[in-house]
Parts: sequence; structure tokens; C-alpha cells
Amino acid sequence: MDTASVSSTDIRIERQAKQLSRQLKVLSEHLFPPHSQKSLRTFTSGEAAQLIGVSDGYLRQLSLDGKGPAPDVSSSGRRSYTLSQINELRHHLATSKPKDALSFLPHRQRGEKLQTIAVTNFKGGSAKTTTSLYLAQYLALSGYRVLAIDLDPQASLSAMLGVQPEFDLGDGDTLYGAIRYDDERKSLREIIRPTYFDGLHLVPGNLELMEFEHETPRALAERRAGKGEAFFQRVGTAIAEVESDYDIVVIDCPPQLGYLTLGAVCASTAMLITVHPQMVDVASMSQFLLMTSDLLAVVRKAGGDLSHDFIKYVVTRHEPFDGPQSQIVALLRSLFSDDVLTATILKSTAISDAGLSKQTLYEIERGQVRKTTYDRALESVNAANSEVLANIRKVWARK
Ligand SMILES: Nc1ncnc2c1ncn2[C@@H]1O[C@H](COP(=O)(O)OP(=O)(O)OP(=O)(O)O)[C@@H](O)[C@H]1O
Ligand SMILES: [Mg+2]
Repeated sequence: MDTASVSSTDIRIERQAKQLSRQLKVLSEHLFPPHSQKSLRTFTSGEAAQLIGVSDGYLRQLSLDGKGPAPDVSSSGRRSYTLSQINELRHHLATSKPKDALSFLPHRQRGEKLQTIAVTNFKGGSAKTTTSLYLAQYLALSGYRVLAIDLDPQASLSAMLGVQPEFDLGDGDTLYGAIRYDDERKSLREIIRPTYFDGLHLVPGNLELMEFEHETPRALAERRAGKGEAFFQRVGTAIAEVESDYDIVVIDCPPQLGYLTLGAVCASTAMLITVHPQMVDVASMSQFLLMTSDLLAVVRKAGGDLSHDFIKYVVTRHEPFDGPQSQIVALLRSLFSDDVLTATILKSTAISDAGLSKQTLYEIERGQVRKTTYDRALESVNAANSEVLANIRKVWARK
């Protein structure tokens, strides 16, 4: 027997990793069977009318006149719509009322550039994924064409959006497939997959993304010899291929300041920096900002485009009645003023509980949790998301 290998730490950790992974797989297959498909609930006619921006009575009349998609009607006469029917209605209304087309179907117009939003902070657990997910779903519900990119090898965003990274993905099925340095590179269009959420597409993530971190140092050396596209341009180039298909791209960054994150920051037109307002987190954020600015300066000198339309700090998991938290939020506002979103995302068991079953508050029905808890949490998320949308629309010079 090879005694060196028995005692060697790498072998031991590898064995434990395999044991753990096997058990996790069993557990996860039990909780989320590999072939289970996520689906989105339907929306009441009241919710549909609100999303579209018309009255419920008007929707009823459309359905009575046989115009637009036919909603599901329950035995008690309640109408409900799927999100894709809501989007069909948007198209129908935009065509039949061309003067108000943009208010029904807010897609990007000529001259309005694609908005790519990187959600970032190297502090783990600062709610990057939750913020990305809620923003992407909010924008899709509002009628925009949204692409969510999971740049985190841990792939929590993909899991939340119904892709199980251990079961559903093959080689090159993550963004890595479109930014890799070798000849296996493919178009991002081949990697993007629709989700159960109409109007929201996904570039999933998994461990394969780490390859980019490992390969970039070698590519940097080759680049000095004048070969290939710079690492920081690759994410942007991949997105540019599908630019015309989307209005907004949301990138969920990993909790590291690696090459992937730098690529996302260079590719983005705006940045959201999530902040959990606690002393330790804010202290590490100041490190994050210093390191980011150092690294970005290097990228800029190497020719990277680092202009952003807006950079906003988003306070998340906020407990407004906590004294120390309030001090930190006040500090951030006094230092960064308008760069801090006015709305904060409240810490809420409604959000964390929904997350346990891989859902958001947009997915669960109001009756499933205590109404006051649900309403308060959703209100705070909606307020933050609508502020981000207002900033996007400002870039497009829309009202
Ligand atoms: N507003 C909130 N209220 C309650 N729980 C929240 C809230 N936002 C996020 N969480 C919970 O906090 C945890 C961390 O959130 P999340 O995964 O979004 O952070 P992250 O920054 O993406 O983490 P990582 O750095 O590991 O990628 C999750 O369990 C999530 O459900
Ligand atoms: Mg995350």
C-alpha cells in the first residue's frame, strides 16, 4: 500500500469531498428530483392588470371580446393568466394602441443601449444572488427581455432558476463555454436557455467556471506576446453576440475579485454593490473597494472600458430597528449620498423561507405566508428594484 497517499491531505480531502458530494446528491435528488421542472404560478386578473398597467375591468372586456389570449377561468368565474399570456397581452395592446406602445411593451428602442448590470461584492453572503434574482424577475415581470448570467461556480442563481448544475449541465454549458481560450469556444446563443419565467433567460453556472480563473494567467503571458483577446474583454464580447435579443442583462458575480468578476465589471454598464449593514461587512467592503479600484486601474491602463452609467450601493438584509445598523446606513448615506439606493431591502423571513424552496416572493402566492410579513418584504424589494429600473430608464432618456 502506498502509505504516502493514505496520509496525504489532498487524498483525504478528495475522499471526503466525494463522500459529501455523493450524500448531497442523494439528498438533493430526494428534495428536488432530477427531472422535476420548475413552473411559475398563474396570476390573478387583478395582478395581471397591475403588471400590464390597465384596469381589471378593461382586461375582462378584452377577454369577453375574445381579444388577446384566453385566460383560464375557474368554476367561480375567476380569470387567471400565465406570465406568457400577460406578455401576449402586452404585445396585443402595443399593436392595437401604437401611440401607447411603449407603455405596454417597454422593450429597448433604437439608440437605447443594452444595460448590463453586475451585482457584486466580495463579501460572501451579502445577498448578491438574492438581489440579482429579484431584480431579474422584477424586470421580466415588468415586460423587459432579461438575460441572467450566473458567474458564480457555486451556481445558486441557476438552482433558483430551475437549473440543477450537477444534473442539467454538460461541458461548456456555462459562460465559460463562450469565453474560454481554446478552440472549443461557442456562441453565447447556444448556451442561453429559457427559464420557466417568460421573458427571463439564463446562462447557468457551475464549477467549470473556475477554469477561466486557472487559464487566464497563462493567457496573460501569451497576450504579452501579442496573441488573443484580453481576459477582461471576453465577457463583454460574448454578451455582444446576443445584444439585440435583450433589454437588460443581470450578472450575479461570485464572492471573489477574480478574473470572472473583473470581466463582468468591464462588460457592465452599471454596478450594484450589495451591502449588509454590519460593521464587519462594511469593513470588508472598504477592502473590496480598494482592491477593486487597484485592479480596475490596471485593466483601464491595459485598455479596458470602465465607464459605468451608474454605480449604486444596495443595502440588503436591513433591520431598520437595529441601532448599529441604522448608524452604518446613515454613514453610507453621508459618505456616498445618491450612490446609495433610497430604498433598502429588508431582512425578512418571508424572503429566506421562500428561498428554502427555491422560490422568490414573486413566485409564491400571497396566501402562503403571513400577509403583513409578505407585504412588507415585497414592498421593500419592489421599491429597490423600481429605483434600479428608474436609473436604467434614465440612461435610455425615458420618462
Ligand atoms: N432580504 C433578506 N432577508 C432574509 N434573508 C435573506 C435576504 N436576502 C438574502 N437572504 C438570505 O441570505 C443568504 C445569503 O444570500 P445570497 O445567497 O443572496 O448571498 P450572496 O451574496 O449571493 O452569497 P455568496 O457570496 O455565497 O454568493 C441566503 O440564505 C438568502 O436566502
Ligand atoms: Mg451568490
